[in-house]
Amino acid sequence: MIVTTAQLFKHAYGKYAVGAYNINNAEQAMGLFRGCIDSKAPFIIQISKGARKYTDKRMLEAIIRAASEIFPEAIFAVHLDHGDEQTCYDCIDSGFFSSVMIDASHDPFDQNVAITKRVVDRAHAKGISVEAELGMLGGVEEDIKVEEGNACLTDPAEAEQFVKLTGCDSLACAIGTSHGAFKFKGKQSLHFDVLDKIKARLPGFPLVMHGSSSVPQDEVARINAAGGQIAGSMGVDVNEYLPAAKRGVTKVNIDTDGRLVWTRVHREFFRDKPGEFDFRPPGKIFMEEYAKFIASRNVLLGSANQLDDLRKSLGK
Ligand code: G3H
Ligand code: 13P
Ligand code: ZN
Repeated sequence: MIVTTAQLFKHAYGKYAVGAYNINNAEQAMGLFRGCIDSKAPFIIQISKGARKYTDKRMLEAIIRAASEIFPEAIFAVHLDHGDEQTCYDCIDSGFFSSVMIDASHDPFDQNVAITKRVVDRAHAKGISVEAELGMLGGVEEDIKVEEGNACLTDPAEAEQFVKLTGCDSLACAIGTSHGAFKFKGKQSLHFDVLDKIKARLPGFPLVMHGSSSVPQDEVARINAAGGQIAGSMGVDVNEYLPAAKRGVTKVNIDTDGRLVWTRVHREFFRDKPGEFDFRPPGKIFMEEYAKFIASRNVLLGSANQLDDLRKSLGK
């Protein structure tokens, strides 16, 4: 069942965070749905602009509709990740997305407000929720690369003003994370002080944490042992997910970790079976491994075992 992120956030707020996982193909979709059903967790499927271009935007919609039929007990939202204004309108008009993210965080404050407000007006007219972003994460985001020194944390006073001016439904805040596999050079740490200040100014308002992959070091070691070269990578400490959730973070974005699972499975498979050229055996292994990974994340986010209670609260 597709619901809005607003419905998911209402149930989660202050208790747990909903995992928001990016998908690009059928294998990721199958692993994601299986992992969320096995762990009895609601979830958010995120589709980036790059994912919509990877095959054809209609392909992902068809895959998600099919997965929803295969797993009828699933409760999830379908969300555009890091949209620009035009892509937001395209998704709002598609009738398929239950929420969109407008990311104008690279623009000056006033421009970010103006763009976000236009998207909010169009989305709300159709009952669709809008996530916006204020502050700047480091790392690589599709077509934009932000060097670590240029990333800037969200200003709590600006956050309050931004939400009032735009009417957005949730806010992605920069609190020290970044996209990709190389998040921290020194110590892993989130700025909980900033989060506390934002929560104090926006009580009850759903916050979003991008760049939340944990970059498991055992995955990285296995990838490197099978020919990969991603030394020096570091992610978010998984023990910081729940403390963030208690401070109003209701959506935690995880994409890179799924790519690492894919890379580990395929590198090891073809290393161990150099004569193999059928992609289905590793694809099967990936779907199983990804499902296990997703279930493990849902436990850490506190969203595991919330499905029955959420269903009741939705009156379904
Ligand atoms: O924030 C970016 C997400 O990880 C999506 O990545 O734009 O390469 O699909 P992508
Ligand atoms: P990661 O690169 O940490 O997985 O972040 C994903 C993300 O924020 C998608 O919007
Ligand atoms: Zn992101």
